[in-house]
Amino acid sequence: MNAQEIRNAYLKFYADRGHAVIARAPLVLEGDPTTLFTGSGMQPMIPYLLGEPHPEGKRIADSQTCLRAQDIDDIGDNRHTTFFEMLGNWSFGDYFKQEQLPWMYEFLLDVVELDIHKIYATCFIGDDRFALPKDTESADLLVQIFKDRGVNAQTADIGSSENGYVRGIKPGERIFFYDGYENWWWRGKGVAEMVDGEPGGPCSEMFYRFDDSEHDDYEKQKYGEFCHPACDCGRFMEIGNNVFMEYVRRGEGFEKLPSRNVDQGSGLERIAAAKLDSPDVFKISLMWPIIEKLQVLSKKNYESHTESMRVIADHLRAATFLAVDGCVPSNKQQGYVMRRLVRRAMVKAFDLGVEQNFMQEVVPVIADMFHDDFPEVAKKREEVIVVLAKEEKAFRQTLRKGLKEFDKLLTNNDGQKILYGEAIFQLYDTFGFPVELSVEEAFKREVTVPETWRFDFDQMMKVQRERSQTAAKGTFKGGLGGQTLQHKKYHTATHLMYQALRDVLGTHVVQHGSNITEDRLRFDFSHPEKMTDEQKQQVEAIVNDQIGRDLKVTFAEYPTSEATGPLGALGQFGDRYGETVKVYKMLQDGADTPFSFEICGGPHVEHTLQLFEDGKRFKILKEESSSAGIRRIKAVLR
Ligand code: ALA
Repeated sequence: MNAQEIRNAYLKFYADRGHAVIARAPLVLEGDPTTLFTGSGMQPMIPYLLGEPHPEGKRIADSQTCLRAQDIDDIGDNRHTTFFEMLGNWSFGDYFKQEQLPWMYEFLLDVVELDIHKIYATCFIGDDRFALPKDTESADLLVQIFKDRGVNAQTADIGSSENGYVRGIKPGERIFFYDGYENWWWRGKGVAEMVDGEPGGPCSEMFYRFDDSEHDDYEKQKYGEFCHPACDCGRFMEIGNNVFMEYVRRGEGFEKLPSRNVDQGSGLERIAAAKLDSPDVFKISLMWPIIEKLQVLSKKNYESHTESMRVIADHLRAATFLAVDGCVPSNKQQGYVMRRLVRRAMVKAFDLGVEQNFMQEVVPVIADMFHDDFPEVAKKREEVIVVLAKEEKAFRQTLRKGLKEFDKLLTNNDGQKILYGEAIFQLYDTFGFPVELSVEEAFKREVTVPETWRFDFDQMMKVQRERSQTAAKGTFKGGLGGQTLQHKKYHTATHLMYQALRDVLGTHVVQHGSNITEDRLRFDFSHPEKMTDEQKQQVEAIVNDQIGRDLKVTFAEYPTSEATGPLGALGQFGDRYGETVKVYKMLQDGADTPFSFEICGGPHVEHTLQLFEDGKRFKILKEESSSAGIRRIKAVLR
């Protein structure tokens, strides 16, 4: 079975089980300002998961094209793509675990005929804080599914992914219980972090194990001693996820949704790769024709130019569907992402030595792969080629301009011309001028490029990337949203208040928890007694005073031992940190020491005065006991 056949078999399988097979939603969802792109199959289904009746009934299946642009800089390994098809099926208050798990495994094992010995599963371990139970029901069903096919599948509790790296997996174990960072699904990550009003629930993921992919010394260093299904080394590849969506976040806790739903999403490209037993998803039938075309055009082979060819294949699949869905390259929002995808693909084409008419050569190959199954691709074929070829032309012009700027960016040192890494970065960042071309151009003009250029360039790139990641931190993996400016403001206010509490009450004050919604912040901290009114007023005054000083909010990454040791960054009680941490600093212009210096993933506002927008001020609404020795504050900007 190739990828197209797997897609069609899946849709038929669920149609045979009473599902209406619907067309994909476009990559750019109209009327949903919280997202840039459709990032998962469930995104267009949110209203129905929340209880609105779906016009096609209670059982729906589709193959949804998805775009996760956050990953754009990571493309090039064997399994990540920005664009993919998600095979999805939904039950809106109809069937549940008892049907979904046996069906899904029947599809993978009996229809696609994946080797059962290479299949692993995960389930939710439960969370006492919110009285959310361990999903033994799914695990029992899974044990039976394997048993019916002659495999004795043992279960094991793992908990956190970090624990997985310490514990590893034992012979015979096939079903693993993980915590709410791994096995609780909503559009963001983590049970406790779930945003008010979002639907979610425990999930059961399906993994395929590649035998010739090793968790080697490099990966041991990078991730941890032992491999396990949630390990990121690539030996286990997640091929799909069964979400049992029966909860909605309400304030401090969870409520049951009006009905129990199923939200299943599988990566078509990954199932197809598993079917080939190839850890490289670019070998599948919906990718490989592009690679073959690139090999012909460049007269180079995939083995020696793997990364460039992967980036082109991924980015042009994405750009093609964006164009089909009416998106055009521009300098903002979706158009900007599309422009980056096209230009990155072209830079890689230069690496390969492919020059003219790149789009006219490659886009038809992509259109051919999809036109039978997506009629809109056939219909818009010519239009798409025109849009992308136009962008190709614009980019070539940009490059010419970059060449003109080139001389201005050279440093003259006693008659010797030097192109520093900083200038290479500027050419890259401002003119979109590819790094390799800059170096080549310098060579042609007999300009010196210092050996450290790569290091200097990478340093600047890192800062740039951190900036854009901070922006992306606030987006759901399923799209942009949730973490609005309001969230960021409360996040920043929380840091200021934490420091103010320590100033007023003493350094025994340590954070024990924090929860932020659009409407308020909530903060738990160690302190033995009720705060007096005067203390509360002092804290408010300090926070408002600091906001008024318009502290600049920045961050940097440090080795954890340095951040928590000599640098004395504040953290949260009991938090487990990785090897390095991000530390946020809030510093007044001209001051030497920051007011707040705290380990945190972000996101934050850039300047504290943003918190005063619309004449708002920081105010503590409530201070109460949370548990023994722990106080809880709720505060607002109003
Ligand atoms: N919505 C689930 C996911 O994207 C199925 O993993």
